[in-house]
Amino acid sequence: MEVRKILLREDEIPRQWYNILADIKLNPPLGLDGNPVNPEALAPVFPMNLIEQEVSAERWIDIPEEVLNIYTIWHPTPLVRAVSLEKALDTPARIYYKNESVSPPGSHKPNTAVAQAYYNKAFGIRKLTTETGAGQWGSALSFACSQLKMECKIFMVRISFDQKPYRKAMMEAWGGKCIPSPSKETKAGREALEKNPDTPGSLGIAISEAIEAAVMDSSGQTRYSLGSVLNHVMLHQTIIGLEAKKQLEMVGDYPDIIIGCAGGGSNFAGISFPFVLDKINGKEIEIFPVEPVACPTLTKAPFVYDHGDTARYTPLLPMHSLGHGFVPPPFHAGGLRYHGMSPTVSQLVAEGLMEARAVTQLDAYDAGVLAARSEGILPAPETNHALACVIEEAKKAKEEGKEKVILFNWSGHGLLDLGAYEKYFAGALQNFSLSDEYIAESEKVFKNFPKPQLLKST
Ligand SMILES: Cc1ncc(COP(=O)(O)O)c(C=O)c1O
Repeated sequence: MEVRKILLREDEIPRQWYNILADIKLNPPLGLDGNPVNPEALAPVFPMNLIEQEVSAERWIDIPEEVLNIYTIWHPTPLVRAVSLEKALDTPARIYYKNESVSPPGSHKPNTAVAQAYYNKAFGIRKLTTETGAGQWGSALSFACSQLKMECKIFMVRISFDQKPYRKAMMEAWGGKCIPSPSKETKAGREALEKNPDTPGSLGIAISEAIEAAVMDSSGQTRYSLGSVLNHVMLHQTIIGLEAKKQLEMVGDYPDIIIGCAGGGSNFAGISFPFVLDKINGKEIEIFPVEPVACPTLTKAPFVYDHGDTARYTPLLPMHSLGHGFVPPPFHAGGLRYHGMSPTVSQLVAEGLMEARAVTQLDAYDAGVLAARSEGILPAPETNHALACVIEEAKKAKEEGKEKVILFNWSGHGLLDLGAYEKYFAGALQNFSLSDEYIAESEKVFKNFPKPQLLKST
C-alpha cells in the first residue's frame, strides 16, 4: 500500500509559532502625517497583547496552552501525498498538500481566529467584530468565539452573502451575527451605499464597517479582528508550515517548490514562511503565491503605501495594492478579492525571495475539478488557484523529466461554494480581464502617499 497520509501525533504539535519579523526587514506602518504609527494609537482597535505581537521581532513565540487545546480539535492536520493527482498528471513530481480543509469551519482561518479570540479574552474583551469575504473567515471567528465564550459580529461582503447563504447559517450555528456589507449600521457602509446602492461590496468596505463598529462601541469591551494581512495573523498561520516540515522529515523529503493561493497572504505565509527561513539561509526553493488574474495585486500592482480599507481607517501599510477603493469584478473566489496584500508577503516578493503567479477563473476551476476527481476532496475556489499552479509545475517537471517535490496548502473545502461549481458545470463562468486603464484609475488614490523603501533582508 502506498503511503498517502503523513500524520503527527497530538503531542508532536508545534509549541511555538515562527515570526518572520526576526529575519526580514519591513517598512513601518505610517500615520496620515507620514510618521510611523505609535502602537498605542491602535489600542481602540486591537488589544495591547496582540499589538505587541504585531511588532515583536522575537523569532519563536510560545503558543498558549489554551490555544493548543482548541487546536487539537483538528490539528495536527494531515500532510497528504497527492498520489492520485500525480497519477492523473502522469508526472514524476512528488506532490504533497497540507490539508487545512479539515478544520470545523473548513479552512486554515481558525488557526489565527482561535489565537486572536484567546488574546482578546485574556485582555478582558467580550465581543469581536470582523469582515468576511468568502465566509470562511467569518465562520472561523464565529467558531473561535463560541469556543472562548465571546460574542461575534460579522460584516459579510454583499456579493458573497448573496452567493453563499449557508455561510451565514454556519456563523449563526456558532452564535455569530452576520449581516451583508455595505450596511446602514455604519457611516462607512452608508457612504458606500449612497455612492452605489447596488454595489457588490468589497473587503475594503467591510473592513471599514467592522473597525467602525468596534471603536464606536461605548462599552469599551469590543475590538476588531482581521483574518489576514497583519503580521500577527501570518505568525499564527505558521503552524501549517511547521507541521508540514516535521511531516516531510518523517518521509525524508524536502520541497523544491512551495505554492499557496494569496488573498491577503495568510495561508500562503503559513505554509511558506518556515521554509523562507531556510531559503534566507541558503536553501534553493522556488516559492509561488498565486492570485486571480481578476485581482492581480502582486503581479500587476506596485509596492506602495496604502490603506487597508476603503474608508481609510487603517494606517498606511507598505504593500502591493490596487488602491483602497478597488472593487474587483464578480469572480467566484471571495477570499482572493482584496485590493492589498500582507506587508510581509509584499516585502518578500519585492525582494525577489518569492515570485507571484496569476491564474484565470476557468483555469482555477478546471484544476479544482481535476483535483476533486483524483484526490476526492472538493477544493475551495481559493485553493483552486493554488492547484492550477501546482498542475502547471507538475507538468513542467514531466516535460523536464525532473522528480520535483511540490508542497502546497489545501486551504479549504468548497462544500459551501457549490453555487459557483454549479455555474462552472453549466458553462456560465467566464474569465475577467482588467484593462490597464482600470487598474491605473484605481491606483490613483495613493499617488500622494509616501513611498516604501526597497529594503534588503538578505
Ligand atoms: C479557503 C481560503 N483560502 C484562501 C483564502 C485567502 O486568504 P489568505 O490569503 O489570507 O489565506 C481564503 C480567504 O477567505 C479562504 O477562505
